[in-house]
Amino acid sequence: MFAPTYLDHNATTPIDARVFDAMLPYLRERFGNPSSRHEYGRQTRDAIERARYQVAEAVGAHPTEVIFTSGGSEANNLFLKGAAARMEAGVLAIGASEHPCVTRAAQQLVGQGWQLQTLPLDAEGALDVAAAASLCEQARPKLVSVMLANNETGVLNAVAGLAQQVRSRGAWVHTDAVQALGKYPIDFRVLGVHGMTLSAHKIHGPVGAGALVVDKRVDLSPLVAGGGQERGLRSGTENVAAIVGFGQACELVKSELQQRISGMQLAHAELERGLLGLGAKIFGAGALRLPNTSYLAFAGIDGETLVGRLDRAGFAVASGAACSSANPEPSRTLLAMGVVPELARCAIRVSLGPEMSRETIERFLSVLQQTVNELRQLTALAV
Ligand SMILES: Cc1ncc(COP(=O)(O)O)c(C=O)c1O
Repeated sequence: MFAPTYLDHNATTPIDARVFDAMLPYLRERFGNPSSRHEYGRQTRDAIERARYQVAEAVGAHPTEVIFTSGGSEANNLFLKGAAARMEAGVLAIGASEHPCVTRAAQQLVGQGWQLQTLPLDAEGALDVAAAASLCEQARPKLVSVMLANNETGVLNAVAGLAQQVRSRGAWVHTDAVQALGKYPIDFRVLGVHGMTLSAHKIHGPVGAGALVVDKRVDLSPLVAGGGQERGLRSGTENVAAIVGFGQACELVKSELQQRISGMQLAHAELERGLLGLGAKIFGAGALRLPNTSYLAFAGIDGETLVGRLDRAGFAVASGAACSSANPEPSRTLLAMGVVPELARCAIRVSLGPEMSRETIERFLSVLQQTVNELRQLTALAV
């Protein structure tokens, strides 16, 4: 099979062989229902509890704070809707660049009487903490959700600072840490949030597992009612193999994080030097960012067209946010940063994996240069 070079790790990641090996027994001989009171059930129950410990260890939480879900989208929905269901409707504040599984969940709550307050970004794409704190001072939100790292720009938000300010006024604070896990150190206690979302498939684990890490003092209403699994917060027979894979992927994050970050930093610096040399605009370049993400544009060159050309030339990159690539609108994140729509439509995202050789980056830059030159010539001919 033709295998283009994969530079889209913020969309999803290839499964690590060690994760795959850990999962296999739970797809074959260890098939028991974890709620069953016999040896088959005990084997899978133990496997889930071990995974819970591995996830908790990777993010500085206690295992009893980890609620397994089907992924990041479900965990975000569980926190927002589960918390909202326990309160009188009030103000819900979310960052301006949240993932659609937060913004759309928030819009559903608006339909139930909640008022939505959007917290602004600065020109580099980071949450404007002073403006957000002052808006929260006025609006007194009951719920606040701000992502730790943005999936498009890779920009990191000062979640701990905001949490400290709004918690003291009684708000419940949540962060979507899906993109940060595996690329940035995370400590649930240091962040000081009530809830935090994680997803397995962004860290070389399987699709179909994620977690909401949630402070035990927070009382959530379940989205899925039933047999009472996951402390009654997420009923349904557990996806044991995926949960085991998630646990293993988290253990690898814990033991390899620094090594992965260093590897990504080297390749990323090389990539961005080259991009600037080619005249690209890199969004959020002045902000603290994940070590693997570059969101960039060549003025006048449509992002979708460039992605298609690069695909045919053997490189898999994304235009805008992969999760909403069915949507041809310019990125909300870029618009919130004050980027004009014409330039926002030119954006493409390159997101590296932990093992990206210098040679791969050089090859990519050379193909990118050639492709951009060809597209510029076509654009020049068209006018
Ligand atoms: C920031 C962020 N949050 C949530 C999600 C959704 O996670 P999942 O695919 O596990 O539902 C994604 C996936 O792209 C994401 O990037």
